[in-house]
Amino acid sequence: MIPLEYAKFSLFSPSMKKILIRNIKGLVQASEVLPTVIKGAEMATIPIIENAFVALEDSEVVGYGPMEDLNGIDDWRDLEVIDGEGRYVLPAFCDPHTHTVFARTREEEFVDRINGLSYEEIALKGGGILNSARRLNELTEEELFEAALTRIERFISYGTGALEIKSGYGLSVEAELKMLRVIQRLKTEAPIAIKATFLGAHAFPLEYKQDQEGYVQLIIEKMLPAIAKEELADYIDCFCERNYFTVDQMERILLAGKEYGLIPKVHVNQFSVMGGVKKAVECGALSVDHLEELDEEDILALKSSDCMPTILPGCSHFLSIPFGDARRLMSNGLPVALASDFNPGSTPSGNLQNVWSLACVKMRMTPEEALNALTINAAYAIGLSETHGRIALGRKSPILITKEIPSLAYIPYAFGDQHIERVLL
Ligand code: NIG
Ligand code: FE
Repeated sequence: MIPLEYAKFSLFSPSMKKILIRNIKGLVQASEVLPTVIKGAEMATIPIIENAFVALEDSEVVGYGPMEDLNGIDDWRDLEVIDGEGRYVLPAFCDPHTHTVFARTREEEFVDRINGLSYEEIALKGGGILNSARRLNELTEEELFEAALTRIERFISYGTGALEIKSGYGLSVEAELKMLRVIQRLKTEAPIAIKATFLGAHAFPLEYKQDQEGYVQLIIEKMLPAIAKEELADYIDCFCERNYFTVDQMERILLAGKEYGLIPKVHVNQFSVMGGVKKAVECGALSVDHLEELDEEDILALKSSDCMPTILPGCSHFLSIPFGDARRLMSNGLPVALASDFNPGSTPSGNLQNVWSLACVKMRMTPEEALNALTINAAYAIGLSETHGRIALGRKSPILITKEIPSLAYIPYAFGDQHIERVLL
C-alpha cells in the first residue's frame, strides 16, 4: 500500500491528460516493493487492494490505494473518471517469446498433422520453418510491417503490453536483416514496448543442409556484424534441438552474439534433452524457453543461475506435445515465466488470456502463479523489469481494466472469452 501522502493530493498538475479509475473491485500487483523475479512458493501470492483507485497523469501512475485514501481532488479539469465497479485493474501482460513477423499462415501443415504427420516429419519434408523462410520474400518490408502491426493490435486487445519478436524466417543475410528492420520499425511505431531477437540459427537452409558449418560461419561472420552495425537486435536466440542446432553450435553462436552485446535467450528442450539448458546458462542466457522436456541436470543448472525458465503452453497444446513442468520448477524454488510463442507453425495464437488458462488447466499452475509468470517474471524475461510487470508510482506501462467479473480466477476459468474491457497504453 502506498504512503498516505500520495493519495492526499494534489495528485494532478494542470494541462496533463488525467485519468482516475475508482471503485475498482481489485487492484492487482500495485506495489512499490515487489521483487523483479518471483520464485517458487512465492509465486502463489498476488497483492490485491480491494475497493481501490488508480490515478494516471500523462499515462504515468501518480497515485493508487484503497478508496478511503482518495479524499479530495483539487483539479478536475481534463480529468477522465472511469468507474471500476466490479472490475479488476492489473498490469498488462508481457510476452517474452514470439515470432510475430512472418509472411503467411500455415494451415496446410495443421491439416497434415491432423492426418497423422508430426511437426518434425513436416519439417523434414521441407515444411515448417523452411516453409516460412521460402515465403518471406513474397512480401515487401512494408507488407510484413503492416501484417505484424495488425497482429500486435490484436494482442494488445487481449492484454499484451510488451512483446519480444524474433527474426528467424530469413535464414540469409539479406532476409534476416529484412525481418529485423521490420521489427525495428515496429519498435518505433507500435504502441507498446518491443524487444528484437536475432534468430538466424532457427533452421539450416536447404543449401546448407550438407554444410552446417558453413551456415554457422555465415551467422557468425556475416549476419552478426551486419546486424550489429545497424543495431537491429537486443537478444540472440538459437533453436537447440535434434535436426536443428547442436549444443556446440549454439554455444559458438551465442558467444559470438555476446561479442556484439546481444544477450542470449534460447529455444531449448522442445523435443529432447541435449544439455542445452546447462550450456545456455553458462553462456549467460536471460531465459531458456520451451522446456517441454526437462531433466535433473537442467534443474540444477537453473538453480545456480539468474536465467528465467520460460514455458510456452500454447505450443504444447497446438502440437499435442507435453506441457512444461512448471510445478517441478517451482517446487525446486525456481521462477517460471509464460509466453505465447506466437508463430505460424507451432502456435498460431498470441492471446495471453488463453495462455493463462492453459497454464492453469494443463500445468496445474494456480491463477496467481500463472499471473506472476505472465507479468513480473515475463517482464524479467524480456529485460523490462524496470518499467513493466507491475503497477507502481512513476511507471508509464500499460494497464488493463477487465470486464465485470466475479473474481480474478474467473479469467483463466472462463477460457476462450475476452475478459479485457479496456487497455490503457
Ligand atoms: O518456438 N521451435 C522452433 N521455433 C518455433 C516454431 C517455428 C515454426 O514452426 O515456424 C517455436 O515453436
Ligand atoms: Fe519459438
